[in-house]
Amino acid sequence: MAERNLDFDRIVDRRNTKSLKYDFAEKRGMPKDLLPLWVADMDFKTSSYVQDALAKQVEHGIFGYSDTLTPYFEIVRSWMKRHHDWDVEEDWLVKTPGIVFALAMAVRAFTEPGDAVLIQQPVYYPFSEVISDNGRKIVSSDLYAGEDNRYHIDFEDFEQKIRDERVKLFFLCNPHNPVARVWTREELTRMGEICQKYQVKVVSDEIHADFVFKGKHQVFAAISKEFADFTITCTSPSKTFNLAGLQISNIFISNPQIRETFRQEINRAGYSQLNVAGLVGCEAAYSDGEEWYEAMKLMWLPILNIQKSMWSSIFLVFP
Ligand SMILES: Cc1ncc(COP(=O)(O)O)c(C=O)c1O
Repeated sequence: MAERNLDFDRIVDRRNTKSLKYDFAEKRGMPKDLLPLWVADMDFKTSSYVQDALAKQVEHGIFGYSDTLTPYFEIVRSWMKRHHDWDVEEDWLVKTPGIVFALAMAVRAFTEPGDAVLIQQPVYYPFSEVISDNGRKIVSSDLYAGEDNRYHIDFEDFEQKIRDERVKLFFLCNPHNPVARVWTREELTRMGEICQKYQVKVVSDEIHADFVFKGKHQVFAAISKEFADFTITCTSPSKTFNLAGLQISNIFISNPQIRETFRQEINRAGYSQLNVAGLVGCEAAYSDGEEWYEAMKLMWLPILNIQKSMWSSIFLVFP
């Protein structure tokens, strides 16, 4: 059994562990001893329950093709209900090896080359990459910094860009990385109504949903059945439990037609089952990781007292 990992002060040496941020700095033209603050993974161990579940799988010694049954879904469903008051159904679930992969699949499934995809800059850079790498047009309705030291949406510009550029797809970052905004229900509703009016599909990337310290995360698709009907919601335990290298994400799509089209695109990419470590890790994290998760969140609390103006850089560095 692994030791309970609730000591977030212990320094773990990550060098020579194939870590992207520690072992690849030089290869990427950076000084060898650079303190790497650019990849969003955490420098402490995940929940011991995740370690134990993975160790059990290793002990088993067979790593054949694997998939999940209803108990996996039940564990994910229960996390979404407990933490985000969101009721998901088993049929809605499509598992992908990460969220960026899901974004790329959505671009390919729901747009044609040359079509416009909307983002809100500044935003997590792969949003732009998956659009341009697939020969689609990046259209940004930029966020602006208000006098209250927070970023805001220019709704007039948002609608104008959608209308004038005939936008087909919108990548919503909810909560937003890097500006650290937890969008309010009102803001999400306004964006959703505009997307509904112009028949824009929404990919809502909610990977940071578990890191909301003040207020509550609002699942975009949970606002209304109408919004859910044109939305692909991307969730993952990877940021929450420091499992990014296991490449597991749970995508929920309630509209059967959109889900089928999305699935077909994944099939076309030649992808089928996920890796077993990701499945086992997700299951253990969501079923037994609660104590670790709460302790990990508490650890960040002192940071909340740091000046608000520093929040965006903090958000970038950590989750
Ligand atoms: C907003 C956002 N989406 C997605 C990811 C990465 O997701 P994945 O590793 O599942 O592709 C990150 C990582 O920093 C992120 O900040």
